[in-house]
Amino acid sequence: MNEMISTGAARLERRMARGCEFLGSEVAILCGAMSWVSERNLVAAISNAGGFGVIACGAMNPELLDKEITATRALTDRPFGVNLITMHPQLFDLIEVCGRHRVGHVVLAGGLPPKGALEAIKATGAKVIAFAPALSLAKKLVRSGVDALVIEGMEAGGHIGPVSTSVLAQEILPAVASDVPVFVAGGIGRGEAIAGYLDMGAAGVQLGTRFVCATESIAHPNFKRAFLRASARDAVASVQVDARLPVIPVRALKNPGTELFTAKQREVAASLDSGAVEMAEAQLQIEHYWAGALRRAVIDGDVEHGSLMAGQSVGMVTKEEPVADIIATLMEEAAAALEKRAA
Ligand SMILES: Cc1cc2nc3c(=O)[nH]c(=O)nc-3n(C[C@H](O)[C@H](O)[C@H](O)COP(=O)(O)O)c2cc1C
Repeated sequence: MNEMISTGAARLERRMARGCEFLGSEVAILCGAMSWVSERNLVAAISNAGGFGVIACGAMNPELLDKEITATRALTDRPFGVNLITMHPQLFDLIEVCGRHRVGHVVLAGGLPPKGALEAIKATGAKVIAFAPALSLAKKLVRSGVDALVIEGMEAGGHIGPVSTSVLAQEILPAVASDVPVFVAGGIGRGEAIAGYLDMGAAGVQLGTRFVCATESIAHPNFKRAFLRASARDAVASVQVDARLPVIPVRALKNPGTELFTAKQREVAASLDSGAVEMAEAQLQIEHYWAGALRRAVIDGDVEHGSLMAGQSVGMVTKEEPVADIIATLMEEAAAALEKRAA
């Protein structure tokens, strides 16, 4: 039995080698940045356990990011990344902060990077990881010089695109996985799925939901409890109420806050109507709403009115346990699945 597992483990190690080399980690598993959740404690715990943690910069200003990177470094000497949102008004100052700290990997989220952003990051010596929501964009990003891609399907928690992980993986992996490492995200709760995406050519995977209830995660006990109780069908995508106000859907556990978001959209749409705000400002208001609502749930524990961003894999989160145990379980499941491939 031991020998059998070790063959699977060896296969897993080979399939993860490229991703591990790119990240500088022991296993090619990233914990995707989660606003308010992915701070120093969870990020350091992930990297210390052999994975790759990513600080969620979210709406932090440069001073706060500076402090967070310093504090994370104090907890781990292993590599970790920083996730920056492309529409952040101080994006270039945040890049400068990452550069000053010699952050090795910057993950760009929230749409195509503005002019000069890739060059600015690369000038610091960091590698750039970008989200590719479609094959055409994946190719465009590779041409423009990104070092790796994350493809994230609509099963994921937080802001989502319209396409499922399995379809994105089939469309994008065969076309670009030989050019740059591609990490698959969205809906991954067990190692069998990790093995599957590695077999399809992924360099590794990114998980978010599965790590929220880690012992080291500072998410409020109420937030964790909501995750432990929920099943896949409770993690629903937000609904857009006004055709003129395109809202990026967000996947979260259903709660009274879901209705508050609908009300917020109506309110913002009304200010658009009256000319009180421009479209860009209206969309920014929606994004600020999410950041505030997520903080309310993650930090304050208001699981009724805050936002419980969670992916469909939430049903596979069954207990609070240390990060090292979660990673060990995922690796064992993946190794066992790869072992069976030979049969
Ligand atoms: C609570 C929560 C907050 C998130 N916040 C962010 C964020 O700030 N930036 C980002 O790029 N992705 C964010 N995500 C997405 C994760 O980084 C990750 O890609 C996603 O959770 C992977 O899918 P999974 O939830 O099915 O594992 C968030 C996800 C969750 C669950």
